[in-house]
Amino acid sequence: MTNSDTKATLSFSDGSPSLELPIYKGTIGPDVIDIRKLYGSTGKFTYDPGFMSTAACNSSITYIDGDKGELLYRGYPIEQLAVNCDFLETCYLLLNGELPNQGQKEKFVKTVTNHTMVHEQMQFFFRGFRRDAHPMSVLVGTVGALSSFYHDSLDITDQHHREVSAIRLIAKLPTLVAMTYKYSIGQPFVYPRNDLSYSANFMRMMFSNPCEDYKVNDVLVRALDRILILHADHEQNASTSTVRLAGSSGANPFACIAAGIACLWGPAHGGANEAALQMLEDIQKEGGVERIGEFIAKVKDKNSGVKLMGFGHRVYKNYDPRAKLMRETCYEVLNELGLHDDPLFKLAMALEKIALEDDYFVSRKLYPNVDFYSGIVQRALGIPVALFTGIFAMARTVGWIAQWNEMISDPEQKIGRPRQLFVGSPKREVPPMAKRG
Ligand code: ACO
Repeated sequence: MTNSDTKATLSFSDGSPSLELPIYKGTIGPDVIDIRKLYGSTGKFTYDPGFMSTAACNSSITYIDGDKGELLYRGYPIEQLAVNCDFLETCYLLLNGELPNQGQKEKFVKTVTNHTMVHEQMQFFFRGFRRDAHPMSVLVGTVGALSSFYHDSLDITDQHHREVSAIRLIAKLPTLVAMTYKYSIGQPFVYPRNDLSYSANFMRMMFSNPCEDYKVNDVLVRALDRILILHADHEQNASTSTVRLAGSSGANPFACIAAGIACLWGPAHGGANEAALQMLEDIQKEGGVERIGEFIAKVKDKNSGVKLMGFGHRVYKNYDPRAKLMRETCYEVLNELGLHDDPLFKLAMALEKIALEDDYFVSRKLYPNVDFYSGIVQRALGIPVALFTGIFAMARTVGWIAQWNEMISDPEQKIGRPRQLFVGSPKREVPPMAKRG
């Protein structure tokens, strides 16, 4: 970041002296006003619940232009990465800042592949869960538990330790997600196979069993790989900020990623694809396309509490570029599986069309986000609805760990400690029991 020639001057109507604040410029995107000296100089904090106007860090990983509907990983548009690269190339890019050449790619793939197994004792952690536990609850627990196995990579001040932890997390998440699924359906865990690609190996760990191997289908594997690329990072979203905040205290990377998974679970974040598919299924059950009008009326009625899941985004105030790519993948997958007439896909497209013409959505700049179509794709791949957010966690792990690593390496990094506007009772005396109301 560079200092701008322009400064911001903060003046007060109560006669307190005004304060000049520096403005910094990024390479693209909005400038920021540096308010770090504000409290020291004025005794006042800023108030910004939900971080609507606050940059909590500087970062050179991912950039979103919400008005243009643009998403860049290390400067490269998501549309180009989704078409020209696979997920592990994208991981390399996010972690290292540049795309790998052939030799670097081969080395990286080999390193990740060599870390796909989890410690054999991990299976006992799974056995402690009820079979009907939500996969995200199992993942929060088991990913956090990884920190008890890899003491040799927990020194966060050592760059090599950080790199090894990053590789371990990226390599082991598919194994843990697949184990979560196998445990829930009472099938034996399937060990990873290192001659398969990252996504093909995951599909095999999910869908093969000792009696029947999984036949790799390139279209379906590519679809999963695209889901992973599209979800790999998204700058300072809620779960990434959670990872950074957890990590700011010096917590180990496995614990930080477990915190990110916990945050991702919520329906306003990663849980939205599960909620979006559920919503489509509910409308379908009640009569399908014919009932869209009625459903939209409910969404527009603020008292109903109903939202159009998979629509709207804190940053995108234009079409989410990932949603376009996901819709394309949706076509490909349904075609491959002979499901051209899938009623949920038709319903989703009709719902999208009607919403995009409705003034409620237009005036609020609400467009489909990536989750609107990703649920239909995942369902077609055979992934159970409850595992959708787990797939998201598997994809986002690289983004979380890249952002965590960037934070740890940043000399300006401090423990995250937001302030508050206190509106509770001022100091008072504890009354004796007999005098309490
Ligand atoms: N359906 C109906 N109305 C909506 C929706 C929606 N999906 N999203 C926002 N609105 C309305 C709000 O009620 C509000 O209306 P108002 O101005 O009349 O009060 C207005 O649009 C602005 O919305 P906010 O909630 O202020 O927007 P915010 O940036 O805080 O929220 C969020 C973004 C949480 C994603 C929201 O759009 C939402 O809940 N969407 C549905 C859940 C979803 O799809 N989440 C996935 C996000 S993408 C991801 O995590 C990968």
